[in-house]
Amino acid sequence: MLLLSNMPLLQTKNLVKKFGGVAAVDHLNLAFEAGKITALVGPNGSGKTTLINTVTGLLPVDGGALVVSDSVELRKIRASEIATYGITRTFQSVRLIEQVSVLDNILLVLTERNVWGALFERHGKLHLDAAEDILKKVGLFEKRHENAEKLSYGQRKLLEIARAVSMQAKIYFFDEPFAGLFSEMRKTISHVLMDLKNTGAAVILVEHDMAIIRELADTVYVLDSGKVIAEGTPEKVLAEHAVIEAYLGK
Ligand SMILES: Nc1ncnc2c1ncn2[C@@H]1O[C@H](COP(=O)(O)OP(=O)(O)OP(=O)(O)O)[C@@H](O)[C@H]1O
Ligand SMILES: [Mg+2]
Repeated sequence: MLLLSNMPLLQTKNLVKKFGGVAAVDHLNLAFEAGKITALVGPNGSGKTTLINTVTGLLPVDGGALVVSDSVELRKIRASEIATYGITRTFQSVRLIEQVSVLDNILLVLTERNVWGALFERHGKLHLDAAEDILKKVGLFEKRHENAEKLSYGQRKLLEIARAVSMQAKIYFFDEPFAGLFSEMRKTISHVLMDLKNTGAAVILVEHDMAIIRELADTVYVLDSGKVIAEGTPEKVLAEHAVIEAYLGK
């Protein structure tokens, strides 16, 4: 993929999502650029997950639009279509195919992604190689024949991230991928995110740990009650009075 910095691969335009009259996402204008890690931070309930759910078609939007690659404007976002726009995500509470092996969890994504490839003779081997590479990258290769339900909490998070990576998307939303993990797994995930960034993807990271934000994020949006209260580099944003207050005040 070509690395074009400053080019937004995805933008939200006045995006609104309400629950019972209360806007959880309140006219958000965000831009997610190629080759950058954009962090979404904010107190519990500030709308980070709702934003992702709306953008990925899991919840219907109540207003505004999504602009893909500066050209396609979507006012209705369907979960079944987001992959065709190069968008993928992970969930705050991990979702896997439980009764199926770790390897098959990846192979299923690769096969879905490449139905035409299935017509070619070597597809099986190509997919297998690709799946094994991804599992090596996240340190789950040794576990490849175990069922997903047998994995530990951390391994489940790694497998979900591996599934997202195997989508070969352009825009990746990671909802608290580091939460509850020890440093070894955190390092693995950092590497995965940096790799995606370096290949020109737009990486969106929801994260509460400010040390991780400082280390990984190029740019940060701070949300509070569904609105942006600060944006910019981690150093700038995390020093702002309104941001400190939003966190300490709740
Ligand atoms: N399905 C839903 N139905 C009704 N209200 C909801 C729903 N999902 C989220 N909300 C409300 O929308 C607001 C934003 O919630 P959201 O989960 O997006 O916050 P968040 O920033 O992801 O928080 P956290 O850091 O705890 O994950 C909260 O007030 C929440 O109670
Ligand atoms: Mg959340």
